[in-house]
Amino acid sequence: MTKEKTVDFGFKDIPAADKAGRVRDVFDSVAPSYDIMNDAMSMGVHRIWKDMAIAKINPQPGEIHIDVAGGTGDLARRFIRRAASVAKRRGGADAKAFIVDINAEMLLAGVDEKKDASLDLTRVCGDAQNLPFEDGFADVVTIVFGIRNVTDRDRALKDMRRVLKPGGRFFCLEFSTPPSVWLKQIYDLYSFNVIPRLGGLLANDQDSYQYLVESIRKFPKQEAFAQMLRQAGFERVGYTDYTGGVCALHWGFKT
Ligand SMILES: C[S@@+](CC[C@H](N)C(=O)[O-])C[C@H]1O[C@@H](n2cnc3c(N)ncnc32)[C@H](O)[C@@H]1O
Repeated sequence: MTKEKTVDFGFKDIPAADKAGRVRDVFDSVAPSYDIMNDAMSMGVHRIWKDMAIAKINPQPGEIHIDVAGGTGDLARRFIRRAASVAKRRGGADAKAFIVDINAEMLLAGVDEKKDASLDLTRVCGDAQNLPFEDGFADVVTIVFGIRNVTDRDRALKDMRRVLKPGGRFFCLEFSTPPSVWLKQIYDLYSFNVIPRLGGLLANDQDSYQYLVESIRKFPKQEAFAQMLRQAGFERVGYTDYTGGVCALHWGFKT
C-alpha cells in the first residue's frame, strides 16, 4: 500500500491534496480585511519591506513583471510606478504587470480604479505551480509572502523560472527566521500572542491568522530556501535579511 503524501498546513500535517483548498478557505476569509490586517500586524513595516524589495528589483521601463500570489496588488503597483519614474528621467515605455493569484477574492479585494487608473495592470486567476504564461514571457517574476502557502514549492519555483526570459530575475520576499535567539523569542511572543487575537478582533477570524503565524514557523530557513532556488535551476542565488531576519528577500537569475 502506498503512503499518502502529506504537507504542512501550519503546525498540522495534512494530505497534500487538501492543502490548496484549505489555503483557499483562509484567503477567502481574510480577503476583505487583508490590507488593514497587514498594516495592523506589521505596524506598517510590510510597506517598508516592499519598498526595500522594489529598490533591489530595480524595475526598468518597458519590463514585463509577473507578481505571483500577488493578492491585492501592492508589489505590482510599486513595480510599474518605479519603472515610470525611471522612464521620466531616461525615457522608455511603460512597464506592464500581471498579478496572478489562485484566489479570486484576493484579486477582487485589490481592485481600486483610482489607484490603478494609469497603470498597465492585469489580474489573472492562476496557480503558482502551473502559471498561465508561455516560456520566457517575463523580465521579472516576484512572489511576496506567497510561497509558503503553495503546496509544491519546488514545482512553483521551477514554473516561475520557466516563465522568465533568459537573463530574467526572480525575487521572493517571505517571512523568515531571525538568527538572533533573543529577537526570535520576542518575535515568537508577538506572533503567537498578538497576531491571532488581532485577526479575531479586526477580521473576525482568529484561526486563519493562527495558520499564518504557524506557516511562517514551518517555512525553511534562509540558506535552505536559497538551496531550493538553486535546485530549481536559478543561478547567482542570494538573499538578504530585513529587520534582523524576520523577513528575507531571496533572488536568483535565469541564464
Ligand atoms: C499572504 S498573501 C500575500 C499577498 C501579496 N503578495 C502581498 O504581499 O500582500 C498570500 C497570497 O498567496 C495566494 N496563493 C496561495 N496559494 C497560491 C497558489 N498556489 N498560487 C497562486 N497564489 C496562491 C493567496 O490567495 C494569497 O493572496
